[in-house]
Parts: sequence; C-alpha cells; structure tokens
Amino acid sequence: MPVPKAELHLHIEGTLEPELAFALAARNGVTLPYADTEELREAYRFEDLQSFLNLYYELMAVLRTERDFEDLANAYLARAAAQGVRHAEIFFDPQAHLARGVGMGTVVEGLWRALAASETTHGVSTRLILCFLRDESAESALETLDAAKPYLDRITGIGLDSAEVGHPPVKFRAVYEAAAALGLRRVAHAGEEGPPEYITEALDVLGVERVDHGLRCMEDPALVERLVRERIPLTLCPLSNVRLRTVDTLADHPLPAMLDAGLVCTVNSDDPAYFGGYAGDNFDAVRQTLGLTEERLRELARNSFTASFLEDDEERRAR
Ligand code: ADE
Ligand code: ZN
Repeated sequence: MPVPKAELHLHIEGTLEPELAFALAARNGVTLPYADTEELREAYRFEDLQSFLNLYYELMAVLRTERDFEDLANAYLARAAAQGVRHAEIFFDPQAHLARGVGMGTVVEGLWRALAASETTHGVSTRLILCFLRDESAESALETLDAAKPYLDRITGIGLDSAEVGHPPVKFRAVYEAAAALGLRRVAHAGEEGPPEYITEALDVLGVERVDHGLRCMEDPALVERLVRERIPLTLCPLSNVRLRTVDTLADHPLPAMLDAGLVCTVNSDDPAYFGGYAGDNFDAVRQTLGLTEERLRELARNSFTASFLEDDEERRAR
C-alpha cells in the first residue's frame, strides 16, 4: 500500500499524457505536429524550464471544452489515487487557455465537474489554485483575476508559474494584494531557476504561505534559517528538477540536506506526464536513490498534510 499523502504542487495541464493528447486532438479536430505518441514522447527531452514550457503550451491546443478539462482532471485523480494521494491542490493556468479563446468558465467548470465528485469517485479531496503566468504582464494577471471573480467559490488560492528568471515576484505585488483582499490563499514558484532573492521577495512582497520549489534557498544560509524558523513549507518536485536540469542527477538532489537543515519539505510531481512520474513515483525515487529512512518518508507525508490548505478536521479524515 502506498503511503497516504497530499500533493501540493501539480499543474493539471502537466498531467496531459500523450495518449489523452491524441484522443482529445481527434475529438476536437486538432492536428498535432507529431505522428504518434511515440514521436511525441521523443520530444520529452528538455534542456531547461523554457524548453519544457514550449511543449507544455503547444499541447494545450487539444484542451477546448469543459469535457476535455473534466477528462484531464479525472485521469490525473485516478492515477494519483492509485499512488496513495488522498488530497490534491491543483494548479491551473487560465491565461494559456484564454489566449486560445477558451473561456475561464470552460476551464473552471470543466475541472470542477471532476473535482466536485472526486472524494466519491477517487477518494481524493481537492483544492483549485489559479496560477498567473509570470512571463505575461502584471496587467494581464489583474485582468485574469477579474475574469475569475464569478468562480471564486471554486478557487482556494493563487500561484505564480512559467518562466522565472527575469520575472521577479515584485512584478505581481498588485495582483497578490487584490487576491489577499478577496480572501484567497497565496503561493508562488520561486527559487526553481531563479535566485534565492526571489524566494525572499515572494515571502515579503507577495505574502506567500508556501514556496513552490524553493530549491535554491540552499545557496543562502540566512534564508534557510528563516524558512526553518517561520516553518514555510517548500513543495519540492525531485523528478522535475532532474528533467529540467535544475539538478544534475537525482543522487545530487539536496532533499536530504534540506530535511537535515529542518526545512518543511514536501515531495510532489509538478508535471507528471512530462517528467516521468506521479507523486508516488517521486516518493519511490527519493527513497531508492537518496536512501531516505522510513522516518524521513513519514515526515514528508506528514508535512504534505500539515502544509495543505485543508481544515483540521478535513486533514484528519484525509490522512
Ligand atoms: N508550469 C508548469 N510547470 C512549471 C514549472 N516546473 N515551473 C514553472 N512553471 C511551470
Ligand atoms: Zn510547478
């Protein structure tokens, strides 16, 4: 039996498996520039974050209807449940869909059809986190938050993703303030490819409660000390870091050192269809390659629930 866990760093668009991509392409009359799933899988060799993002955005062309988003979410939830995920906080990237003429309502209502039934269908509770694309403008982020206002009963929080370097958190101060005023929870990707200063800025300027990735905090001992003292959770994604070459090999991953330093680490899959594994696969990989003890693995699972946005009673039920 896989260990019960929560997944806190998961882009729903990054769960689009090649088989589903081709099925949705056929359903929607979209032509993909790949002959078949094998040729598409061949394209999954990434140099860095941007080379991955190029393919990630390209394949979204197959997502057009509410049913597409519902099918995508159900496929993810089924796989996650099979690997012991009891709770999932799911990112989505509305700007990438709005730019293609797919409305906020189509995306949110489609995802919601799967999420609303998920506890019954999959035994997985869920939250939805709207992410802003940091390589788009601050004005676009504000417009996107505005477009989400009719759906705020379905959205728990906001996040910040896409190309990090050159797009510091401070660029999004206004939209994070507006979101906080609406009662939304706040997280942001920081310190994946970007410098440790972006982590500090995400905390001080955006008021984030969790840092997504946060890997590069290890370059700044004073920042590590602060993250430990303030018990700020980090949502690490080990297989993603290897595929996007943030670390050379899994054996070089700083997770053991991060745990030894007292950081509140969690293990997640990021974009599992692209990076070679779901949440349980990430747990298995760090157990095998990094030699984590059973106690460390239990700590990671425990952290995933305490760092979640579940209420205490929900958390107890999910564990
Ligand atoms: N969007 C999807 N996956 C991402 C990642 N790992 N970093 C930044 N943006 C993303
Ligand atoms: Zn991510």
